[in-house]
Amino acid sequence: MSVITTQRHGEVLVIISDNPPVNALGQAVRAGLAAGIAEAAGDDAIKAVVIRCEGRTFFAGADITEFGKPPVGPSLPEVVDAIEQCRKPVVAAIHGTALGGGLEVALGCHYRIAIPSAKLGLPEVKLGLLPGAGGTQRLPRVAGVADALTMIVSGNPVTAARALEIGLVDRVADAGSLADAAIAFAREVAGAAGHPVSSLRTDRIAEAANHPQVFDKFIAENSRKLHGFDAPKACIEAVRAAVELPFEQGVKLERDLFMKLVSGTQSRAMRHLFFAERQAAKIDGIPADTPVIDIARVGILGAGTMGGGIAMNFLSAGLPVTLVEREQAALDRGVATIRKNYERTAARGRMTTEQVEQAMGLLTPTLDYGDLADCDLVIEAVFELMEIKKEVFRRLDGIVKPGAILASNTSYLNIDEMAAETERPEAVVGLHFFSPANIMRLLEVVRGASTSPSVLKTVMGLAKRIGKIAVVSGVCPGFIGNRMLSPRQTEAQKLLLEGATPWEVDAALTEFGFPMGPFQMADLAGLDLGWTAEGSTSSTIREVLCERGRRGQKTSKGFYDYDENRRGSPSPETETIIADFAAKSGLPQRKFSGDEIRERLLYPMINEGAKILEEGMAQRASDIDIVWLNGYGWPAFTGGPMFWADTIGLKVVLEGLARHARALGPDFTVSSLLRSKAEAGETFN
Ligand code: 3HC
Ligand code: NAI
Repeated sequence: MSVITTQRHGEVLVIISDNPPVNALGQAVRAGLAAGIAEAAGDDAIKAVVIRCEGRTFFAGADITEFGKPPVGPSLPEVVDAIEQCRKPVVAAIHGTALGGGLEVALGCHYRIAIPSAKLGLPEVKLGLLPGAGGTQRLPRVAGVADALTMIVSGNPVTAARALEIGLVDRVADAGSLADAAIAFAREVAGAAGHPVSSLRTDRIAEAANHPQVFDKFIAENSRKLHGFDAPKACIEAVRAAVELPFEQGVKLERDLFMKLVSGTQSRAMRHLFFAERQAAKIDGIPADTPVIDIARVGILGAGTMGGGIAMNFLSAGLPVTLVEREQAALDRGVATIRKNYERTAARGRMTTEQVEQAMGLLTPTLDYGDLADCDLVIEAVFELMEIKKEVFRRLDGIVKPGAILASNTSYLNIDEMAAETERPEAVVGLHFFSPANIMRLLEVVRGASTSPSVLKTVMGLAKRIGKIAVVSGVCPGFIGNRMLSPRQTEAQKLLLEGATPWEVDAALTEFGFPMGPFQMADLAGLDLGWTAEGSTSSTIREVLCERGRRGQKTSKGFYDYDENRRGSPSPETETIIADFAAKSGLPQRKFSGDEIRERLLYPMINEGAKILEEGMAQRASDIDIVWLNGYGWPAFTGGPMFWADTIGLKVVLEGLARHARALGPDFTVSSLLRSKAEAGETFN
């Protein structure tokens, strides 16, 4: 059956797309749309047209799988132009998500009607692109420059209600009656004398034409967020063209910019990440008919930094949580922090006070382990000590109902050892949340030796329900993320002893695109994590910094000195402390270039990633990219560590490691997978 069909309702022709799962605008859809418009144009009995989609959504964009392949006509810009030039009014009937090329089709239509749950956006920037079918020229003309800039540069969609406010849709229909409402709308406008044509409008861009400084202001306000990315700059340039140039010239500029971006490495990297994120949710070797366990109540043990944040994920998703602590004071503190976090969100307008109370109403704080009995999943977030974890698992196993899942939030420890303490090792799994757990989207799901497919499938589904991006890891110290962080930290410390400053090391990574470097990160987290004054041995730079009261941002000094706005500047005291350690180390001192620092920090990470792959600890290279992107701020425009290594060439990485062999030390070993792939000219992804 054709993906596009037409139906006649009196004098209205309805063009219907049915191209699951998301009605992507592949070649067959484009050709069908063009044919539908031609059918309407050639039939005098037809006075108006409706374009709508079957299934879960209106067109969610161009078909991304076609990028990089030879184009087959008609192109999307041609189709959008044909719709706009149709002499009979065309109404877009929008449900689900009208995204990218989908919204561009809607902008080519003369009228737009949407249901309240619909979302409309131009997310191309998230794929390293800009809208390439007239979106940068039509959206400002329809919705005004300020909103168009925000939508196109952020890539975030707006709701139907907001779309109505800014003039992007003309009407909002009742949820159940979109098809009929669109036909009625089409009948209504069929007889009108003229119809709004997006590309001909000037009313919404007139103001910006008189105030061109809006663009400079927008760039200044967003420069930090946009740093390193090519696509947002192109988006801004194209919207500026909508204001300054005639439509045809603006469209040509948009086209040129699109072609440049789509063939560049940044967009290739970001498209890789789009598919990598979806791939990560798929687990090898789990049959499709594997049953899932119903999770109706979650138990959490430990109301500290992590336990509280983890609880918020479930409360926000409407799941009741039983939160257990060992002492009242800690419990009260934990609950107060949860409330404070919600209230802060409400103060920023992102939650109503009703929603705060709703979430808090789902929370049952208690000191009694027995209250966990009826939970379907219990996650422990107590101290990071194996003896304590083992005891906790023995105890939970005796209390929590049979069939329920027992999970650990450990960052480094062996899940299998915990599972061995229970009578239900198949129900034990690692759920490694990242701090702050209510905000960070990454979740490492640690698959133990005995974890059952059903438990794994259940927690992957649950992760999606609470808005996390889950990646499966095998059992190894630090799992995927922290295991790869470890060689980076080691090299960062060593570089200090060889003559590099913390600020040079951090700058090398921020220039690469990380939001912060290792020493800025340490200052933010607090240098005294796991440090006690009594046990101090003054044997590391970090210990001495702590002894001198330099414990990070919270004490206004750590590696850096901080002003009242938490802006850091290089500290002479830190430099002296480092110089003392460097002198004691006897290592020769020298200057390092940014490139050399990056090689020392990043190549050993790639090497560790390769080991993780060859040991089967990650299912695929792209899963490692997803971990580093969402857990550690690896810059998206490089596609993640493994994709980046592929881009620069594995041979280059291998040669770099050989060049730095002496500095890396005798304990450093090169991954055999990295070596064999580099020698064979292969890639990880
Ligand atoms: N092209 C090709 N495949 C797509 C696609 C697209 N635009 N959008 C989604 N898919 C595929 C996904 O890869 C996935 O495939 P899989 O089942 O084999 O893994 C399947 O459709 C379902 O997608 P999700 O799992 O993401 O489904 P959700 O319901 O969670 O989300 C969505 C739906 C919000 C539409 C989300 O898929 C999405 O954001 N899609 C991308 C939207 C986008 O970026 N559009 C712009 C494209 S670029 C463009 O239009 C250029 C133009 O300006 C010229
Ligand atoms: P925390 O010290 O802030 O909180 C631990 C809480 O557990 C304390 O409130 C303590 O009173 C409570 N507790 C200890 N033993 C208990 C028991 N037997 N029964 C009930 N409650 C008990 O520690 P944090 O940072 O929340 O870490 C918890 C776990 O999460 C650790 O395994 C840690 O490795 C892991 N983790 C920590 C991250 C972080 O950034 N802090 C990130 C990811 C994982």
